[in-house]
Amino acid sequence: MRANERNWDARAPIHAASRFYGADGTTPAESWFAPFEWEDLGPLADRDLVHLQCHLGTETIAFGRRGARTVGLDFSGRAIEQARRIADRHGVAVDYVKSDVYEAVPALGGRTFDIVYAAKGSLCYLPDLDRWAAVVAELLKPGGVAYIVEFHPILASLGPKPDPNRQELLLRNDYLEGRGPIDHTSTHTYTDGPELPVAAAAVYEWAHGIGEVVTALINAGLTITRLRETELLPYPRFDRMIRDDDSGWWRLPPTDTRIPLLYAVAATKPS
Ligand SMILES: C[S@@+](CC[C@H](N)C(=O)[O-])C[C@H]1O[C@@H](n2cnc3c(N)ncnc32)[C@H](O)[C@@H]1O
Repeated sequence: MRANERNWDARAPIHAASRFYGADGTTPAESWFAPFEWEDLGPLADRDLVHLQCHLGTETIAFGRRGARTVGLDFSGRAIEQARRIADRHGVAVDYVKSDVYEAVPALGGRTFDIVYAAKGSLCYLPDLDRWAAVVAELLKPGGVAYIVEFHPILASLGPKPDPNRQELLLRNDYLEGRGPIDHTSTHTYTDGPELPVAAAAVYEWAHGIGEVVTALINAGLTITRLRETELLPYPRFDRMIRDDDSGWWRLPPTDTRIPLLYAVAATKPS
């Protein structure tokens, strides 16, 4: 996890300057949300919301704009610096806190929230989901909702970008957890922009099947109220993906097998 922190510190300024994130305003914050997210989250005005592993806050500012008292939390100090700068630039009030997600309860001074949000590339950096779910439950007010929107584990199973000359998607990596950290060391990040320094190239991920995520939330005392799967992604992971007219997100062409690429779980803390 120390390697991951170093890696995300190195990525933050590159991502903040990237066309991929469009943090200068070229990519609206709203475009990072699946259409069903706003329906599931409901009205946000005057709600207390914490966004765990918020990275640059490119999504976080959307909550502030909708009237939530918003906190973004991330263990990368460089990401938090960029997130503060981006929120200022957009004139949105967000309170950013630098902390490991496992230390979020003391880092947030015991404050509790109506909504705990985590999304799209977060859980794969956490080795232990039972500990994570216990933190999420402690951060929630009674009646509060944890809303997790993640890349479907099947997407990670599909492995590195398939050969563009082949049309088949092949299962190359584990779907299920249990084999420890997966070494993704690379000087390349997923956005445009320069390479990472070699000293910050090490990064580790953990596989988490949907069953593991849901069970961890249930074991933490939360009640699952929604579980969605969708074939939509916010960016074209595969070259032949096409834009979805309604959402502006991306899907595989209709000739492909229909598989889920993203999922969302809502879990409520009993009152
Ligand atoms: C892919 S980004 C977050 C996803 C967000 N949806 C985005 O694309 O901007 C992953 C973030 O998780 C953060 N992170 C990874 N492990 C963490 C941990 N243990 N505690 C807090 N933040 C962590 C990284 O610093 C990074 O900013």
